[in-house]
Amino acid sequence: MPPLATSARGSHLDEHTRGEEALTNFTDDQKVYTTPNGTQLHGDSLELLEGLEDESVDLIVTSPPFALQRKKAYGNEDQEAYVDWLAQFGEAAKRVLKPTGSLVIDIGNAYRKGSPTRALYPYRVLLKFVDELEYHLAEEFFWYNPAKLPSPLEWVNKRRIRVKDAVNTIWWFSKTEWPQADVNKVLLPYSENMERLLKDPEKYYKTTLRPSEHAISKHFGNNNGGSIPPNLLHVPNTESNSNYLRLCRELSIKSHPARFPAKLPEFFIQFLTKPGDVVVDIFSGSNTAGMVAEQLGRKWYSFELSHDYAALSIMRFLPSMPPETAHKLYQKALQETVALPDEARHLSQAALDAAEAGLDIALEEREAANQAWGAAADQTHDSKSFDSSEHAEKTLALAKERRVAAEKEVKKAKQALTTAQAASAALDAFYAPETVVPNGDTSTEVE
Ligand SMILES: C[S@@+](CC[C@H](N)C(=O)[O-])C[C@H]1O[C@@H](n2cnc3c(N)ncnc32)[C@H](O)[C@@H]1O
Repeated sequence: MPPLATSARGSHLDEHTRGEEALTNFTDDQKVYTTPNGTQLHGDSLELLEGLEDESVDLIVTSPPFALQRKKAYGNEDQEAYVDWLAQFGEAAKRVLKPTGSLVIDIGNAYRKGSPTRALYPYRVLLKFVDELEYHLAEEFFWYNPAKLPSPLEWVNKRRIRVKDAVNTIWWFSKTEWPQADVNKVLLPYSENMERLLKDPEKYYKTTLRPSEHAISKHFGNNNGGSIPPNLLHVPNTESNSNYLRLCRELSIKSHPARFPAKLPEFFIQFLTKPGDVVVDIFSGSNTAGMVAEQLGRKWYSFELSHDYAALSIMRFLPSMPPETAHKLYQKALQETVALPDEARHLSQAALDAAEAGLDIALEEREAANQAWGAAADQTHDSKSFDSSEHAEKTLALAKERRVAAEKEVKKAKQALTTAQAASAALDAFYAPETVVPNGDTSTEVE
């Protein structure tokens, strides 16, 4: 059992950690940072999965390193060995899933090395997981990413004998045939035509036979709150405005090279879990899934082999934070567990206090500069002799400069205060109390 958190982390987090104790068994040095709802851990997922109790997890949603031909910065297993490698995680994951739990794996497709023919590992993974690990294939999904670039260059761009590969396969595995799922949580907005029909069904409804000779029933005109989504998920992988990328850019730190868009885990978390349920990402990278789970009021655990990627993912939990402050927390996360939001709030409050003090000083200086300028102006007016008038003019010019400089400082200090206030408000909004899962209770509705 892990030791209880020290009192320095505040009572809220002590309780959180106590709640967590019933469910997990992680050591402090595996924990990179904690939030009200979750914990980012670093290490090999095969080991970290051992820290989770049997049948304690509702959803594992993850994107493993793919067996690509061109190695990414974080390394890949050979295609041959890939299926066996991934199956070990599938086996370990099965133990921790509840009987109603799901394992959602996003797998990128690839060509065989040097050949314009496809590798079959996504399908081999599917067969291995179903035939040998005895998962059920609840449904297959395809993630259509219109922003995907054409590749491999040789077959698609140069020789023009293959089209752009724009989908990833996503296997939705379940432990039993009846995983928890609720389509009502992921309904899409109705089309304009459907909206018109719903407003005035009599006007638009005609009993017609579809080409399949099925009659469209009148129930078609019922308003169910939205349309049922297809298993083709249309999600562009463009994230240029995220807080994570902003901070990486501003700090010139290389961001994780293979993130999935937040909409992807969001879809499965909404579809397959309730507020308060437990969500795990066993290959968490930049912790997109944990960030979404936090905001949707789910408990989460994210596992990442690279300590650096795991620590850097803290940026997702520091909305609108100035880069220097975020950098301090990132550096700390590389050394010891950071407790969020308390430690972020502490730094944010210090920045707010400093900005307020800075504004007070700037306002005082402006007041003093104005007085000095007034005195210098009077002196110029009153000076009788040529010498004294020249001296007074010089004093007035200096006082003017001082006044302009003081005005600039006030502007700067006001701007700094606005930024600090916005950062503090963004933290409050991100860690809104209504999204915090009650301690030690993983089944209470909080939305
Ligand atoms: C495709 S990335 C996941 C990206 C993530 N979905 C995101 O949005 O940022 C796969 C990650 O798995 C990590 N990884 C590889 N082997 C691992 C292992 N044995 N245990 C934990 N993480 C591992 C890699 O370091 C890499 O960051």
